[in-house]
Amino acid sequence: MPFTVPHWAPGAPLQPLSFDWLTRAGIELAVLRLDLLDPLLSGNKWFKLKPHIEAAAAAGADGLISLGGAHSNHLHALAAAGRRFGFATAGLLRGEPQDTPTVRDLQAFGMQLHWLGYGGYRKRHEADFWLPWRARYPRLLPVGEGGGGLPAARSCAGIVELARQQLAALGWDDYHGWWLAAGTGATAAGLVLGERGARMVHVATAVPPGHGVEAALPAILAEAGMADTGYRLRDASRGSFGRLDARLASFIRECEHASQLPLEPLYTGKALLALRDEVEAGYFAPGTRLLFLHTGGLQGRRAMAQRLEALAAVRQE
Ligand SMILES: Cc1ncc(COP(=O)(O)O)c(C=O)c1O
Repeated sequence: MPFTVPHWAPGAPLQPLSFDWLTRAGIELAVLRLDLLDPLLSGNKWFKLKPHIEAAAAAGADGLISLGGAHSNHLHALAAAGRRFGFATAGLLRGEPQDTPTVRDLQAFGMQLHWLGYGGYRKRHEADFWLPWRARYPRLLPVGEGGGGLPAARSCAGIVELARQQLAALGWDDYHGWWLAAGTGATAAGLVLGERGARMVHVATAVPPGHGVEAALPAILAEAGMADTGYRLRDASRGSFGRLDARLASFIRECEHASQLPLEPLYTGKALLALRDEVEAGYFAPGTRLLFLHTGGLQGRRAMAQRLEALAAVRQE
């Protein structure tokens, strides 16, 4: 059944963060808590999905079909949106059937799931990949992995305004730049679009060099007719996407104790640790004011909780 998207513009608080490593370096940091946007539709995912959901509604589709892994924040948000706004969803999953907290939520939200195996999932960039799925679900709009591209980036540009509206409440008249995690770079491209070169966007990549962010960001900016400037990439992957280690685990634990800021390891945890390393290496001049974007993803942390605790304990011994 075709659906309409109700007007929904949730807010997210901008909060000051205080850590001893920031104080020592004379740096001020505030975090835009997109993780608090909504209990289910949180993080950068809502901004990235919104244009796709609107396109599906405008086309008279019944819903959307997309792909991701067994812990995917993207599929989780899409399934939650489908349930919230009353549209159908289907998810194509990487690998063999698994029972993860995310998969259980997808099922509870009513998403139709199909496991593609690893080989089948690798074919997702091939020209005819969508043909059988279009035939099977002719009334669902296909959305590529992660839902990136220019429409998603344009939607993410709105995040800049969300933060700016709250600067005065922090007692800040301005800030020098953003620090955020990137997977595909679409969210970061959105901040660059929103800033229009006014402030630097520091992009801490959750994937190692060569995994696409270097190409995706300039491509989105070029499509928007903008110069390839206003950002810098910094590898925050710690060797590979998805790798957890004891230093990261104990850093996340320390942050949570010091500031009550919940972090998931793969994106926000790695990004904040990379910021600490740069602050401690003297990259930023004293007096610098930065905004850290909390891109959410906390649902994906459930499956990693035990491993994180075990790693943090190793570090303490
Ligand atoms: C929690 C979280 N943070 C950051 C990102 C990176 O976003 P992008 O792919 O737009 O760079 C993602 C998604 O991939 C994510 O799930």
